[in-house]
Amino acid sequence: MMRSLIQTASVTAAIVIAWSALSTSEALADDTQKGAMPTAASQCLSCHGTNGNPALKDVPILLGQQPLYLENAIRAYQDGRRTGGQALVMHEIVKDLSDADIKAIATWFGGTQ
Ligand code: HEC
Repeated sequence: MMRSLIQTASVTAAIVIAWSALSTSEALADDTQKGAMPTAASQCLSCHGTNGNPALKDVPILLGQQPLYLENAIRAYQDGRRTGGQALVMHEIVKDLSDADIKAIATWFGGTQ
């Protein structure tokens, strides 16, 4: 009985330690995102706002969105798979973005800045 309590306690401690290590590295990653805006993102700010939170009412908020979702959306505009609504606006804008640009932009706008 005592033995299993001690085992439970040490497993719990290990989880807490692993968790706090994870949270620390996430916090560092967030700090890095805040600072460095990818050059390719500068052409997005006029519509999507300087930090991805637009003043224009008919433009989607990118700030805090899932980076993978943003990446997929940009690729879908690029391939012409995403149509309808105001998609035509985006087709033109993202057509020359490289893979690296897309990843950098999605990471910077998405997540928590
Ligand atoms: C001229 C204004 C304009 C510019 C510049 C612009 N966008 Fe957009 N963006 C829009 C509009 C309008 C939509 C909504 C399109 C639709 O209806 O599908 C949109 C949609 C998006 C979406 C989809 C969001 C979602 O929630 O599904 C992403 C991602 C996006 N833009 C990224 C970018 C990136 C990255 C850039 C810069 C390379 C950029 N946009 C530049 C106007 C703009």
